[in-house]
Amino acid sequence: MSQVRQLMEGIYSIGGSIATQNMVEGKQVYGEQLAHFDGKEYRLWNPNRSKVAAAIKNGLRELHIGKGSRILYLGAAEGTTISHLSDVVREKGTIFGVDISARSMRKFIYLCEQRKNLVPILADASQPNLYKEYLSGFTIDALFQDVSQKNQAEIFLKNARIYLKRDAYGFLSLKARSINATDPAEKIINAEAKKLENEFEILEIINLHPYEKEHAMIYCKKK
Ligand SMILES: C[S@@+](CC[C@H](N)C(=O)[O-])C[C@H]1O[C@@H](n2cnc3c(N)ncnc32)[C@H](O)[C@@H]1O
Repeated sequence: MSQVRQLMEGIYSIGGSIATQNMVEGKQVYGEQLAHFDGKEYRLWNPNRSKVAAAIKNGLRELHIGKGSRILYLGAAEGTTISHLSDVVREKGTIFGVDISARSMRKFIYLCEQRKNLVPILADASQPNLYKEYLSGFTIDALFQDVSQKNQAEIFLKNARIYLKRDAYGFLSLKARSINATDPAEKIINAEAKKLENEFEILEIINLHPYEKEHAMIYCKKK
């Protein structure tokens, strides 16, 4: 029989899958499997649908978030990954989810109505000054980014300069092929990591294979 084992705050391992404790019991977000143990409901976190889950499967051992954390998440899309982070930060936490697509935002807003710790922001993440008013008065504990754009590192740095405090953590998902169509993926990812080095300590670069092809997650700490 499967056991529930804690991997990090709010994130569990259940029979080889990773999972978070469902904050909105009985509700699935993207068709994920639900599991019940000791009167608690868990949502299995699919690494084929979420790069943060893929990074955890491939060895990422700390997200540095927990109950009450405040997160800025760039590339919210429909909220698949954010929904699990929402389970981790629980009622006292806040996640600001930015996305440029009005179509994705419509679905994300529906999720925000069910999960009161989510704040939807329809905006271009490459212009972080434009959403300052929503974040004013909040200190951000962690920055997550998953936007498939050519200038992924620049977008991440622009946001970190405004919103991320010193010693806070960043998680940058990189899609090599959005940056360059021909060079080897490893070379592209290393070049992107280099762009962060003046402002971040690079803690780990995690390859997301086999869940995502030619993707990596850069786990870093603000200097
Ligand atoms: C791969 S999807 C994100 C999936 C999501 N992170 C998840 O795991 O559930 C990439 C998202 O980035 C958004 N995006 C692309 N360019 C953007 C930009 N400049 N600003 C904000 N969002 C952007 C797209 O609209 C898309 O929803």
